[in-house]
Amino acid sequence: MADEERKEEPQAKPEAEEKPEEKAEEKKEAEKQPEQQTMRSVFLTGYGGYNKLQVQKHAKPKPASGQVVVRVHACGLNFADIMQRQGQYPSPRKPPFVPGLEFAGTVEELGEDVTDLEVGARVVCISLEGAWSEYACVPARNCVVIPDSLSFEDAAALPVNYLTAYFMLFHCANLGRRKSILIHMAAGGVGIAVTQLCKTVEGITMFGTASAAKHEKIVANGITHAIDYRTTNYAQEVKKVCPEGVDIVLDPLGGTDTKKGYNLLKPLGIIVCYGYAKSIGESKSMFSSAKSWFQGVSYTSMQLFKDTKSVCGFDLKAVPIELIGEALKHLIQLYSEGKIKPVIDQVYALEEVGKAMRKMHERKNVGKIILSPMKEPEPEPTPAPKPEAAAAAPAEPPKETAEAEAKPEEKAEDKAKEEEKKPEEKKEEAKSEEPKEEAKPEEPKEEAKPEEPKEEAKPEEPKEEEKPEEKKEEATS
Ligand SMILES: NC(=O)c1ccc[n+]([C@@H]2O[C@H](COP(=O)([O-])OP(=O)(O)OC[C@H]3O[C@@H](n4cnc5c(N)ncnc54)[C@H](OP(=O)(O)O)[C@@H]3O)[C@@H](O)[C@H]2O)c1
Repeated sequence: MADEERKEEPQAKPEAEEKPEEKAEEKKEAEKQPEQQTMRSVFLTGYGGYNKLQVQKHAKPKPASGQVVVRVHACGLNFADIMQRQGQYPSPRKPPFVPGLEFAGTVEELGEDVTDLEVGARVVCISLEGAWSEYACVPARNCVVIPDSLSFEDAAALPVNYLTAYFMLFHCANLGRRKSILIHMAAGGVGIAVTQLCKTVEGITMFGTASAAKHEKIVANGITHAIDYRTTNYAQEVKKVCPEGVDIVLDPLGGTDTKKGYNLLKPLGIIVCYGYAKSIGESKSMFSSAKSWFQGVSYTSMQLFKDTKSVCGFDLKAVPIELIGEALKHLIQLYSEGKIKPVIDQVYALEEVGKAMRKMHERKNVGKIILSPMKEPEPEPTPAPKPEAAAAAPAEPPKETAEAEAKPEEKAEDKAKEEEKKPEEKKEEAKSEEPKEEAKPEEPKEEAKPEEPKEEAKPEEPKEEEKPEEKKEEATS
């Protein structure tokens, strides 16, 4: 979606600039309003750990001209949301705001000049923010009508994962018959979408990297060669089957994996760089930025000319909204024909967003994680209290705000983030309740010296994410 389009998008709650006393007033107002005028949303209250995500009640939005308010039935959780929570991904504005890039539901209210949607229509929508809510307000052009055969959960899984897969395969890489492709994170939302879309083209050889425990599922989804990147060198595994290399590499990892992917391409091959998952550690750090700068790759035109290979970048946010709408309609058509079907890992209540995000961060998901404002949180298993402790414990005060549960590792993440702050930032925060200035996303670096594309002989280091220094892997985009 082009930047100018996205900038026009409605703000479910334009409170970033508000002063604390104004916010308190607004909260009081929201409390006074009848129940049907308020809604629950997940707010990102600042950058840091899972405890920065809180469900709060606030006023329902009113649609401006050209906008619609949609009653959200299901919304998607994305890798970008983890990065945004950590301050590693461009936010629409500084916290607090309601995150969420995609949702499905029914049209509740139309703004002026909306002629192509009706109240009650079932729709799937894409947005820059605001999806993790009972109601979301977006331009009508960001919505596409869905058939009754498409569930809200499946519909909410389409925009980010399937559009990304669709544009990378059919626009960037120009996927054709009998091509070979390396798909990283093959058990993730995008990986599953890429695999299913590859199956719509005849004779594609698909190498998919994933943890061994997920191989059965990715093979059932269509991967022809599953590779356990944790215990083997995936480049060597690919070469065993295709000694000359592959036609397409989709690279969501960045850093050294980009170089490795480029080296795996055969002439006329293309690598599409669309993420930097390797930079996701416990928290954003200056060390990871510096490492990123050193490990990033770039290629000169002379190098590309000599190798006859292409390097391409993809970011869904940069795609114009008209193309998004067309592609979504095509994807819905493919769904109706039974050619694609999102794999839903789990559906969580809004209040469980921290738990849902942790599952994604810990790489335990296979497919898409969905949040649903319609769902009640699962009761937490309560450990049996010791008799004397139970008697002494004071009663829990009722909570108006459901805060995503903070476990010790979250606190560690917050602590790490806290330690990174400069003293003056800390001072600033102490003075005010306002969240701190948005951390800048990783800048793509420019490197003068191209890397000579030589064969990767270095073996893959298994479980590299478990080493602290590797956790601080860099970003290259
Ligand atoms: N450019 C764009 O417009 C765009 C749009 C959407 C997504 N993306 C990017 O696409 C990538 C995948 O997103 P997704 O939504 O499919 O993710 P996802 O559903 O959360 O998939 C994550 C899975 O990838 C695997 N994985 C491998 N290396 C990992 C690492 N270093 N960190 C975390 N997980 C790792 C894990 O499975 P195993 O256990 O098998 O390792 C994990 O379960 C991300 O990098 C994201 O930023 C980019």
